[in-house]
Amino acid sequence: MAIEADVLVIGCGIAGAATALRLSADTQRQVVVLTRAEDALESNTRYAQGGIVSRGIDDSLESLVRDMLDATSGLAEPPGAVRLLAKEGPALVRKRLMDDAGVAFDRDTHGALAFGREGGHTIPRILHVGDMTGKAIMDGLLSLLRARTNVQLVTGATAVDLITSSHHSADPLAVYQPIRCHGAYVLDSLDGRVHRYLAKATVLAAGGIGRVYRHTTNPPGARGDGLAMASRSGARTINTEYVQFHPTTLALPGSNNALISEAVRGEGAKLLTPDGRHFMAQVAPKWADLAPRDVVSRAIHHEMVEHGYPHVLLDLASAMPKAQIPERFPTVHASCLAAGLDPTEEPIPVVPAAHYHCGGVQVDTYGRSTVQGLYAVGEVSCTGVHGANRLPSTSLLEGLLWGERAGAHIASREQSAALADAQPASADLPSWQPVSSAVHAEGADHVLVFRDQRTIQNIMWLYVGLARNTHRLKRALKDLNHLWEMIDDFYRSTRLSDELVGLRNTAQAAWIITSAAWHNRRSCGTHFREDGQSRTFASLDDTESRL
Ligand code: SIN
Repeated sequence: MAIEADVLVIGCGIAGAATALRLSADTQRQVVVLTRAEDALESNTRYAQGGIVSRGIDDSLESLVRDMLDATSGLAEPPGAVRLLAKEGPALVRKRLMDDAGVAFDRDTHGALAFGREGGHTIPRILHVGDMTGKAIMDGLLSLLRARTNVQLVTGATAVDLITSSHHSADPLAVYQPIRCHGAYVLDSLDGRVHRYLAKATVLAAGGIGRVYRHTTNPPGARGDGLAMASRSGARTINTEYVQFHPTTLALPGSNNALISEAVRGEGAKLLTPDGRHFMAQVAPKWADLAPRDVVSRAIHHEMVEHGYPHVLLDLASAMPKAQIPERFPTVHASCLAAGLDPTEEPIPVVPAAHYHCGGVQVDTYGRSTVQGLYAVGEVSCTGVHGANRLPSTSLLEGLLWGERAGAHIASREQSAALADAQPASADLPSWQPVSSAVHAEGADHVLVFRDQRTIQNIMWLYVGLARNTHRLKRALKDLNHLWEMIDDFYRSTRLSDELVGLRNTAQAAWIITSAAWHNRRSCGTHFREDGQSRTFASLDDTESRL
């Protein structure tokens, strides 16, 4: 079966939803949005706590640009993209999120917008809805999207591979043409079959890679699907060694690294060693607990390794009036209570965990990848603005702005005409061709899939984590290569399923990250090589004076 649309959007977090909304403004345009989840609300965006960057009081464009460049270890490329985000992003927050989607960001007692602060920001400029900002944004965007009659929102749909002329066309000469994307092969969770979704433009908004690691703040869907699929299609990926670790995730049994928002430190909470030492005061005298994320995560890691601590402590109870904590941080409060700890009374045990991919599919300021007809937006993409270490609460902003810009670019008349001209007849793009031995094969052995997934996650956590070196990376590449042979064999001999697609993508995403980390011997931002040359400056204060 072939489903044809003008535009196919794969993924439905803030970036995918923003793209679809912009495109569907023209009611003649048919837009299909796919999500693996059974509930469209389920995406990484839904779990974003801290908020979204806007323009704070006494803030300026220059100040936001400077904070972003500073946090990214000077590696944000091109700097024009940073300026674009700082300039156009906050205005779009007001227009799309507040005016159109009706997101009710928190206000102070005088009714003015309440701005929060997080690491690396010199002033408070982050809009939030308690610590459930991502959910509030997605509720607003999804209700707009659902009201659009020209948007088909398909749940339970796993993209298996992008359809490209060079890989799939029936025309043997297509292989000599530039690679062009025409849609995706998609596994339907209801009938278990793979369908062709054909489109003039395809937008990859499939999110991040957190679940490639053993410990992460990300939900199960963040398994590197988009990165792996784009890479198989021939799209260029860049900066993939830069994986950001969030400094503070809950370190209590059964809590699964629940995120403890950086906004908690923005409200004054301090990080302490178990014996009460305020170590960030020494590591970054000027910023202390609100130093950029890579610095704080590494400092915690150092304390744990050096002194054998199982975790450090985050003291929120001393920073805020007790009664305010459940209201300002309902998610954090509930996560702690569920794990048996009252954060209004006791310090919170925390450890770093994988959180955000700063690299990804290389795109320009309109979200265009190096494959024609393929756009990428949100965490799966690399616009360059996050350099080697993302400034907090800029990811939702980037997803919103690049979603809007990709949508506008596709919608532009010239581009629509060019895309329509390039679309071959659906008969030239054959149906899904399963590997022959897998047609009647048995379904995947769940235990095997789980164990392979866990093995990859452990390799990544232990060898490609916060501190890397040649020996660990070499071992990781060797182990991943060995595992890949078995997983590929498994993939070819087993009936296709969502978990099998995920396992294969996780293995490929892990390899892409590790090989980039192996080749880059310079420590910078989140990529810290114990044995490499350093691009990091002696202290954060030095970084400041150089900018
Ligand atoms: C947080 O709330 O700490 C996460 C914010 C972000 O990752 O930008």
